Amino acid sequence: MSDKVKFQAIKGVRDILPPESALWNRVEQVAREVFGTFGFAEIRLPIFEPTELFARSVGGDTDIVSKEMYSFEDRDESSISLRPEATASVVRAYIEHGMQVLPGNVKLYYMGPMFRRERPQKGRYRQFYQIGAEVLGASDAPGIDAEVIEMLMRLFERLKLKGAILNINSIGCKQCRPAYVEILRGELQKVREQLGEDSKRRIETNPLRVLDSKLEHEQGIIEKLPRIAEHLCAECRTHYDEVKRQLGMRGIVYQENWRLVRGLDYYMRTTFEITAPGLGSQNAVCGGGRYDGLVELLGGPATTKGIGFAIGTDRLVLSLQEAGEGAATGVPAGKGGGPDVYLAWFGAAAQAAAIGLGRRLRDAGFVVELPAVDLKFGKSLGLADRLKSRHAVIVGDDELAAGVVTVKRLADGTQQKLAEPELFSYLRAAQAASE
Ligand code: HAM
Repeated sequence: MSDKVKFQAIKGVRDILPPESALWNRVEQVAREVFGTFGFAEIRLPIFEPTELFARSVGGDTDIVSKEMYSFEDRDESSISLRPEATASVVRAYIEHGMQVLPGNVKLYYMGPMFRRERPQKGRYRQFYQIGAEVLGASDAPGIDAEVIEMLMRLFERLKLKGAILNINSIGCKQCRPAYVEILRGELQKVREQLGEDSKRRIETNPLRVLDSKLEHEQGIIEKLPRIAEHLCAECRTHYDEVKRQLGMRGIVYQENWRLVRGLDYYMRTTFEITAPGLGSQNAVCGGGRYDGLVELLGGPATTKGIGFAIGTDRLVLSLQEAGEGAATGVPAGKGGGPDVYLAWFGAAAQAAAIGLGRRLRDAGFVVELPAVDLKFGKSLGLADRLKSRHAVIVGDDELAAGVVTVKRLADGTQQKLAEPELFSYLRAAQAASE
């Protein structure tokens, strides 16, 4: 019996392997480009924070904080948590670095792993990734809400994500929401016995979350409940109307969804979610909203308002793959596919020449595979095929003597002898033709 241990990734946690990782890189790259054009800059945040930061901002009674956080005691007995989301960290950093003195709105984006101990399924993981952005500043102008959403839709367009649907809502503010929640609670009490266990519990803890329920038999009941739109205060109503008008000005199509309340406590007024096809039940590819009180709640200036979103990168990539966009938008030739050049060399003298040539080819941007040991001709060219190289460039004694290389196009076997400058032109032309 062998006592070899075979390790596996922890449940709900996965490796992202090539060639899929190339699609991730591309998604992140396009996000950086698009966000950059809207004046956003990157913030890199810690992966863990004091537990209290999330309890305060996301909310102690939310599923995320009460059931899903990876929390542990540090050696000094303080409680630390792996971040379940990053808005709290952005706000903490904003306050810690006194960013309210910066001119205009502070626009930050981030990308990286988040951790929630949810039940794993397609599109739902315990370590998942987000690409998020936040705008912090003194203004809560509806034009900011609309521009943030515009940026998001622009990104999805650039990535050729098809079938994305934008849902929006306003969940009111400290002035109007409590009264609505009480009305809702009262109505829910009346139908209590018809509700499932989760919803029954939420009548006390957070009646708004009942609206999120996916339970089939609760749908008819929920449809008859009072709607927040009818209970918004005048300021929230005006703000929401203006957000919609501003979206219209930008040509952004949206659906109003009065049941979109979101599962984090810091939201107020505008909330939004985007769904994408091919994801099954976990179809929210992005969620966000306004959180004007959060900076103050975490000890910063009361005048600072905030709005932002986070895209679930795993789900975005999944949806692109399901639509076949993985191949189309993913991997340009030579960038994660096979190498441009397999540099076959035979003999010690040829190896030295091949190493030099390989360096010059790589400097020029070609993807080069250079065997590390001297292989037999058949074996070497066989490997070039299996690696899906576009060309084999052969350097042997004959070539060395003649000051040329043999270049073979592996798709059709055509080959010719070229001196180095011609080789470069030939490869450039081949690359241009394949793009
Ligand atoms: P959230 O709705 O909790 O919002 O998460 C945003 C997105 O992250 C979701 O729409 C989903 O695509 C993805 N996501 C969440 N949990 C998982 C999971 N277990 N597995 C895979 N993907 C997941 C937030 O996190 C807020 N911080 C967004 C925000 C930023 N609001 C304002 N600023």
